[in-house]
Amino acid sequence: MTPEQVVMVQDSWKQVLPISEKAAELFYGRLFEIAPEVQPYFKGDMTEQGRKLMAMINTAVNALNELESVVPAIQEMGVRHVAYGVKPEDYDSVGAALIWTLEAGLGDAFTDEVKDAWVKVYTTLADTMKAAAYK
Ligand code: HEM
Repeated sequence: MTPEQVVMVQDSWKQVLPISEKAAELFYGRLFEIAPEVQPYFKGDMTEQGRKLMAMINTAVNALNELESVVPAIQEMGVRHVAYGVKPEDYDSVGAALIWTLEAGLGDAFTDEVKDAWVKVYTTLADTMKAAAYK
């Protein structure tokens, strides 16, 4: 990622943070609409699940300039996801739901450039998780 992309992701995330509970709700609503087959994977309280997801994205976004520091945690998370029943192809649906949610939350601020930067962040996270999980 370029330094400009890092700034774009961090700035846009700051706008999502205050509405992160609502964003999580939108995200799961969208995910279960486009990929109903993943809904049964989720066994716990979805508000709590939404908080964990947002906290993890927050950690990654804050660490974009030193991603090496969070790679081990992301790899371990990928391995845990196998036990939740998650398959490699499910990462595409989650990515699509995330981008859709950011677009809904950010409106006009979600320009093509901001979108490209977020796609890069999600792809990096997902690729790191999958590489560790499905060897
Ligand atoms: C960048 C991608 C992702 C991130 C940052 C993420 C984040 C998290 C976090 C932080 C947790 C809490 C438990 C833990 O840390 O192990 C979790 C649990 C979970 N995630 Fe993900 N996740 C991602 C991708 C996915 C994908 C692709 C799926 C497939 C639908 C998925 C489904 C689940 C499920 C089913 C749980 C457990 C829910 C439960 O306990 O009932 N996640 N995720």
